[in-house]
Amino acid sequence: MNPATQKIWQTLNHSAAAVRGTQLRDLFAADAQRFSRFSMRWNGWLLDYSKQRVSAKTMTQLQALWQAADVPGWISRMRNGDAINHTEGRAALHIALRQPAGKGPILHDGRDVMPAVLAELDKMQSFAAQIHGRHWRGATGEPISDIVNIGIGGSDLGPRMATQALAAYSHTGLNVHYVANLDGADLATVLAKLQPRTTLFIIASKTFTTQETMQNAASARHWLIQALGEAAVSLHFVAVSTNLKEVAKFGIDPDNAFGFWDWVGGRYSLWSAIGLPVALAVGFDNFRQLLAGAHAMDEHFFSAPVAENLPGLLALLEIWNCNFLGAESRALLPYSQSLGLLPRYLQQLEMESNGKQVDRQGAALAFSTAPVLWGEAGTNGQHAFYQLIHQGGRLLPCEFIVCKEADFALPGHHEKLLANCFAQSEALMRGKTLAETTAELTASGMPADKVAALAPYRSFPGNQPSTTLLLPRLDPFNLGALLALYEHKVFVESIIWDINPFDQWGVEYGKQLANRLLPVIEGSDNGEHLDSSTAGLVAACRT
Ligand code: F6P
Repeated sequence: MNPATQKIWQTLNHSAAAVRGTQLRDLFAADAQRFSRFSMRWNGWLLDYSKQRVSAKTMTQLQALWQAADVPGWISRMRNGDAINHTEGRAALHIALRQPAGKGPILHDGRDVMPAVLAELDKMQSFAAQIHGRHWRGATGEPISDIVNIGIGGSDLGPRMATQALAAYSHTGLNVHYVANLDGADLATVLAKLQPRTTLFIIASKTFTTQETMQNAASARHWLIQALGEAAVSLHFVAVSTNLKEVAKFGIDPDNAFGFWDWVGGRYSLWSAIGLPVALAVGFDNFRQLLAGAHAMDEHFFSAPVAENLPGLLALLEIWNCNFLGAESRALLPYSQSLGLLPRYLQQLEMESNGKQVDRQGAALAFSTAPVLWGEAGTNGQHAFYQLIHQGGRLLPCEFIVCKEADFALPGHHEKLLANCFAQSEALMRGKTLAETTAELTASGMPADKVAALAPYRSFPGNQPSTTLLLPRLDPFNLGALLALYEHKVFVESIIWDINPFDQWGVEYGKQLANRLLPVIEGSDNGEHLDSSTAGLVAACRT
């Protein structure tokens, strides 16, 4: 059902009109309890959404969207293994991948998936033990020092981001590298640093047909064979895929192939064997902690009432900002170098999941869905694009993530990092009026004519909404919970927007045209079907 036709949607539209005339700084001045009213704690975390443009009334109205869309019913459908990815006829059971042993069955087509999930985890663990224990030897009998994960999208972004996020836990002595891009520069620059004798490749692809990954895998195989011969392939390549037939064709020993299932979407697959490079980088106990954190967030999501449900609140605030206040993007600003790749990872999770044009009945949507997500680790972003957030005139909701404790505790750094993070959200909320700027410049002794000339440049409108998520520390458990938080936030939004977040048909058309263009670029097709621009570009490459 089109949510925009619901009465609650109209009510929220009226509330938005009222909110447009209010200033966040006035809301804070009028209510000394605003922070405690609009913040919540979970497991040592603090979510502060008091700097969002909401009132108690709007929060209640937003929470009604949760009931109207039957979010609890959809959670049950997901947990029951229903084919909620209806355009592909698949379930979405990534929650099973992090459920610990002994917690009961999770059914798919009437069969419990947990034994297979736990068996695959055990297989990963013994493989990791062989690599870490230096028992796994390459073709020359030497142990492995470097792992190269070749994959793209969900088979790259999650493990790459998590490996960087947990750099403080990487004590295994292995160097873990990632190659994704079809551009040969990606693979070539990684291989230039490595020795075939001590390198092990993980070919990670759910389908094992993705052009980028297959090309990079073929080139890596060629590089290895040139140095060590064909027989070395089985000692230097392992695979993670749902397509074990294609894996075998590539020459990878089935014992060294790690499987997962079609009910795990690519961008939800970090918790499966796709997480193998993370386990190799940080050790298996830490990988299990990552899963435990995600499971803890699952339990919270399934049981907490909407007013205290972290994924639910983040989803409702995003819907408020986008569908009612008119925001078109959200800036994700982790004040953590280790979380520097989080914006990229969430770009796929959020935009590939919820960037949709039709509802679950196939009817065109009357509103836009997922906002553009972008961002950068603070404080680097402050010296790049914050100018536009402060004075560019756009509504730009910001999400700050910061940890109480540093993961790399160099003296003098973390206090300044925290001060910068909190100062930004304060400045965005408060702004600085022309009168305040004028008074400040006058007090500094500036002549009146100069004050009048400069004050407009040095004033800030403020009223820019933001949320701050404060974590105790960035460890495997909290990272797992953080990523599961965003997975469920995306799910709640999709339910309220009445869209399928688990398919990605929008990516297909470009792939199809690239396959049609390749023979033209290679010269075996004259390209007479091409438009003049595309034909002109191809021709320019030939001259
Ligand atoms: O970008 C499209 C997509 O299908 C993603 O959903 C997926 O994560 C990525 O390609 C890689 O797919 P695969 O793991 O099958 O190589």
